[in-house]
Amino acid sequence: MPTISVVGLGPGPLSLLTKEAEQELLRAPKVFFRTNKYPAYDWLRSLGKTLVAFDGVYSFRWPHADQMYGFMVDALLKEATNTGSAVYALPGDPHILELTTTLLRERGRAAGIEVKVVAGLSFIEIALNAIEVDAGDGLQIVLPRRHVARGLFSPHLAMLVCQIEAKLHLTDPPSVDQTAAWLLNAYPPDHAVTLIWTSGLPAYDVERKRFALADLEREYGEGRYFSSLFVPPLARDDD
Ligand SMILES: C[S@@+](CC[C@H](N)C(=O)[O-])C[C@H]1O[C@@H](n2cnc3c(N)ncnc32)[C@H](O)[C@@H]1O
Repeated sequence: MPTISVVGLGPGPLSLLTKEAEQELLRAPKVFFRTNKYPAYDWLRSLGKTLVAFDGVYSFRWPHADQMYGFMVDALLKEATNTGSAVYALPGDPHILELTTTLLRERGRAAGIEVKVVAGLSFIEIALNAIEVDAGDGLQIVLPRRHVARGLFSPHLAMLVCQIEAKLHLTDPPSVDQTAAWLLNAYPPDHAVTLIWTSGLPAYDVERKRFALADLEREYGEGRYFSSLFVPPLARDDD
């Protein structure tokens, strides 16, 4: 049976790649990457591996992002069918905000291809560490357009808002004005929130800044490489 291994690369630094992920990548004759802007890409290239990255695909104006991710999945299924296996590397953990993992599971099953996932450390653990929060106090992981805009959350539980740019098209410029407006429907302007982001290559350092929700657009500025917003819960009368 052909196999596809989906490998989580962790949040960036090679020190955060699991041993299992490392072994899977080193064993593979060829590795596909959703994005090459990751330290593991340069590391494998320096070892002379054959690498294929899908970054160029993001610059086409796809009618819907699902079609772009479908294109990547087609390529991986074809590789596994033709050669018997494919290894596909993704940032963080393959089950956190990675549509291609879900599509590969669905379409792999239908095509008789085994899809196995090697877990990785996601940005969620890194973000909670940066803000010193325990998920056991309750944590909602949400997207601006899919959840916040539609009121699919409770303001009385902490929330980590991901992909805060809420882009309609992948090529749209980064902006958080809509996310800020949707949040201000549920929280007061002086509610203290924390922006968490990484500066990206080469070090993938994690930064954070706490400010009032009303200042989100100004603090976000011209755009940041991979950022999320931690929104603490509103107090209840019975707290
Ligand atoms: C497509 S998701 C990929 C998540 C990845 N699968 C993971 O498990 O880390 C990208 C989103 O993750 C969040 N993200 C990734 N790295 C981050 C970081 N260092 N700090 C804050 N948010 C981050 C941002 O919300 C970004 O828009």
